[in-house]
Parts: sequence; C-alpha cells; structure tokens
Amino acid sequence: PYSASILNVSAMSFGSLSKNAVLALNKGASLGGFYQNTGEGGLTPYHLENGGDIVWQIGTGYFGCRNKDGSFNELAFTEKSCHPAVKMIEIKLSQGAKPGHGGILPGHKNSPEIAEIRGVTAGEDVISPPTHSAFSTPVEMLNFIEKLRGLSEGKPIGIKLALGRKSEFLAVCKAMRQTGITPDFITVDGGEGGTGAAPLEYSNSIGFPLREALAFIDDALVGFDLRDKIKIIASGKIITAFQIVKNLSLGADLCNSARGMMLALGCVQSLSCNTNTCPTGVATQDPKLYKGLDVENKSNRVAMFHHKTVKAMVDILSSTGHSSTDKLNRTHIFRRVDQQTVMRYDEVFPLVERGSFINQDDAPKCYQLHLKEACASTFKPANTLAEVNKETQSV
Ligand SMILES: Cc1cc2nc3c(=O)[nH]c(=O)nc-3n(C[C@H](O)[C@H](O)[C@H](O)COP(=O)(O)O)c2cc1C
Repeated sequence: PYSASILNVSAMSFGSLSKNAVLALNKGASLGGFYQNTGEGGLTPYHLENGGDIVWQIGTGYFGCRNKDGSFNELAFTEKSCHPAVKMIEIKLSQGAKPGHGGILPGHKNSPEIAEIRGVTAGEDVISPPTHSAFSTPVEMLNFIEKLRGLSEGKPIGIKLALGRKSEFLAVCKAMRQTGITPDFITVDGGEGGTGAAPLEYSNSIGFPLREALAFIDDALVGFDLRDKIKIIASGKIITAFQIVKNLSLGADLCNSARGMMLALGCVQSLSCNTNTCPTGVATQDPKLYKGLDVENKSNRVAMFHHKTVKAMVDILSSTGHSSTDKLNRTHIFRRVDQQTVMRYDEVFPLVERGSFINQDDAPKCYQLHLKEACASTFKPANTLAEVNKETQSV
C-alpha cells in the first residue's frame, strides 16, 4: 500500500521534459511529500537522484521494459519496478490530449541518452502505438495487471485512461467482476488534457471532458460494487484548490497536475514543446536552453505551489464543516446550468445505487444501452460485433 498526497505531478516524460525539469519536479516532490509520475518515457536516473516518490508509467511502447521488437520484457520490468523509489505502477491506456492516437518522440529530441533509457535507436522518430501488444481484451488487461503486481512484489498497479465509448469502461468493470482482479487505482484524464505534442483536432475535440468522465467512472464502479477496491485519480486542468475540491466532491480520491507543475517550473506557454526550442528550458533537450532552469530554485517553487494549493484546499474543506476529504461529495458543489438555474452536483450527476449494475435490468435506464454494449471479452461494443457478424454472414 502507498499513501499519496491529494495533489501530485501528472505523467510527463523525460524526453518531452528536460533533464533539469525532471530533476526539479522530483526534488519538489521530495520536499513537499507528493509523487512524480514518470510519463511513458521510462524511469531515468533523473527520477531517482533527489528521492521523490515515483509512479512509473508504462505506455504502449513499454519504454524501459521492452524487447527489441517493442514487446513487453518481464525481466527489465521486474528489475525497475522493485526500486524502492517506485511506489506505484500505472499502465497508460490513453490520455485526454490524444485518446486512441498513440504518440511520437520526434527524431531531433531522441538523443543518445533518451534512446538508451527507452531502449530504442537514437535520432529516429520513436513511436508509441495506439494500442498495447501485451493484451487486447479487458480480461487480458486484468491478467496483465495481476502479472505486474506479482513481478513488482505487490506494488499498487493502476490504469490511466481518457473516457471514450462508455461501454469500453463498462466492459472492464464486467471483466473485473468476472475475474475478481481489480486495478488499485484508475487515473481519469479529461479530454481537455495537455501534452508535449498532439494533433490539434485531438487536443481540442476528442475524449470525454473530465467532470463527466469522472462522474461516470465513479458511478460505474459503485454500480458494479467495486468502488471500495479502487482509488480514482483525476487530471485535466486542475490547478487551483477549488478545482481539487470540485473533483474530489464528484468522485476523485486525489488529483494530478501536469501543466500546473510546468507553470511552477517557469513555463511561459510559448507553445513550443514539440520544437526543442522551449525558451524556459522546461520542454527541450537543448543543453543551452535547459541549463537556464535552476533545479534548486524551481524545486522550491514546485514544492511551494503544492503546499499553498493544498493549504487553500484545506481552508475550503473546513468551510464545508469537514476535516477529511473523504467527506466531500456531490452535495457540496453547485453548477450554473443556464442563466436562471443553479443545480447541485448530485442533481446534475445523480448518484447510482451500489451494486445496481450487476444485474443489468436494475441499472438506471440511461446506463442500459451502454451496459448492453459492454462485454468482458472485448473492448468493442456488442452491437458493432453484431453488425460485423451480420456482414460476414451475408458475404
Ligand atoms: C509536456 C507534457 C508531457 C506529457 N506526457 C505524458 C505522458 O508521457 N503520459 C501521459 O499519460 N500523459 C502525459 N501528459 C498528459 C498529462 O499527464 C495530463 O494527463 C494532462 O496534461 C492533463 O493534465 P493538466 O491539465 O494538469 O496538464 C503530458 C502532458 C504534458 C503537458
């Protein structure tokens, strides 16, 4: 088990971030008692130098634990996951800035050092495919989680996703009930998420917005009576104390911030993450630029941003009359839905009854279509399968 802060550093890879940015975030995490997520670029010496807690993220490229052909390597995973700084492991399914797209580290950012860490060839574009090769169905994914849990000597294993079709997540819930295997945490990334490089149409338009996705994931886990076993982490434009409170009230147990932490590092939003010319040295591999990022100074800023934000969150919490974030729920937040109407979150996102999704017919009507589409043995919706079947039969 691992006890995490309410606010942490969201996944950002060494490769998209500079060495000094990674060092400063890690030192900030160590000073402030929160974790740093490595991002899918792998665990690097810079994540381990300053003693901050680490969540090691594994994406579809399996960087740092891959074979030459890009498939998952058990031995390399076991070795790294057992490092004492690695507190949890996160399997990345997708992220809000580019769900279903995969990723690319451009050749000009793929230095010999990065190539060595990732297990790839320097100077070449590095591809993270859109899907995993270690599993292709919800049941297989849960078996993979169980395998990683064993290989890492029981460390918490979670998944990160941006919600797309609701039946995909309900299929995972059905698979959890079927196998009895559950992830320890689920990181829900809103469609509004950012990244170093993503196609504009994806970052602007694809993926469920955080609030709606979070409420749905929380409801689905309650509906399948799985919520007690799984922590929910929220990310997506969470920068202020109130945004933390809002997400905790809606269903999250804790939050991650990527761009908030980048701003604490000195990011001026020059929109040049993908060009290697970041003027503040945050998102570049050019030593002339990143040497200007003072690790000592910026780590203090990162720790201070965390400290002041969490303190302000505690202030707001105390105004609700509570002393623990567990007590926050949907009755604490109001949303203006039109010019005349303000509604409480539990009116906007009605709570579901515990266990009510287990027998499909007991579920609220608005979930029935999605539940019918969901099948533990495939991420594909059942009605698409039916259509494919029909087409194949008519051929
Ligand atoms: C520079 C940068 C690099 C990122 N790299 C990753 C990554 O490797 N893996 C991942 O899951 N998300 C990655 N993200 C997404 C963030 O972890 C986060 O989900 C998203 O930005 C939403 O949080 P925010 O609004 O606080 O930035 C990256 C984001 C940024 C800004």
